[in-house]
Amino acid sequence: MAPSFCVPFFFSLLLAILWICPTYGRLSVKVSENVLKEICSDHEDPPFCLQALKSDPHTPSVDLVGLTNISIHLVDVAANKTLALIRSLIKTVDPELKKHLDDCLKMYDATISETEDAKTALKAHDYETVNVASDSCMTNAETCTDTTTTSAPRLQQENKNMRYLCETFVVVSNHLL
Ligand SMILES: *[C@@H]1O[C@H](CO)[C@@H](O)[C@H](O)[C@H]1NC(C)=O
Ligand SMILES: *[C@@H]1O[C@H](CO)[C@@H](O)[C@H](O)[C@H]1NC(C)=O
Repeated sequence: MAPSFCVPFFFSLLLAILWICPTYGRLSVKVSENVLKEICSDHEDPPFCLQALKSDPHTPSVDLVGLTNISIHLVDVAANKTLALIRSLIKTVDPELKKHLDDCLKMYDATISETEDAKTALKAHDYETVNVASDSCMTNAETCTDTTTTSAPRLQQENKNMRYLCETFVVVSNHLL
């Protein structure tokens, strides 16, 4: 009785493995220069995307998961830097600017915490959650853009850089799905 029960079980297991393996296979291939260009062609500023990803010395030797990790790291560093800038500007007395800075502060806080979640999700191979975090990163940066007053030009500049880095994270993590 045991064998007749086991055969379908092992057959399903085999199917499951065959189904899962190509996915892992595709993701664990080293990212070639052509694939990198193809990924960045989905970015509104492809040269920015290429330059950002190539700024990490590990890029020539990583797979798609490693490249996503790099894009997350770029977002992480930029978000912390911009958050520090917002904190330094927030002492302003201009009420309109202060309101804008408060809104941006919330957005950057959210991005930083979602970036932490994305790191955990990447380790757990939960690429859906990673991709959602990248979209959220874009939305947060756009929200800070939308309300931008002209009285904080440096924030405007850094936030644009942030939005592009979020988009880099989006185009890379789209390829995980
Ligand atoms: C950014 O800030 C978060 C929260 O304070 C911290 O956990 C993380 O290590 C920082 N990342 C970098 C790259 O400094
Ligand atoms: C991501 O990069 C960090 C170092 O920057 C490394 O410690 C971590 O293991 C990497 N995670 C993955 C999933 O590759």
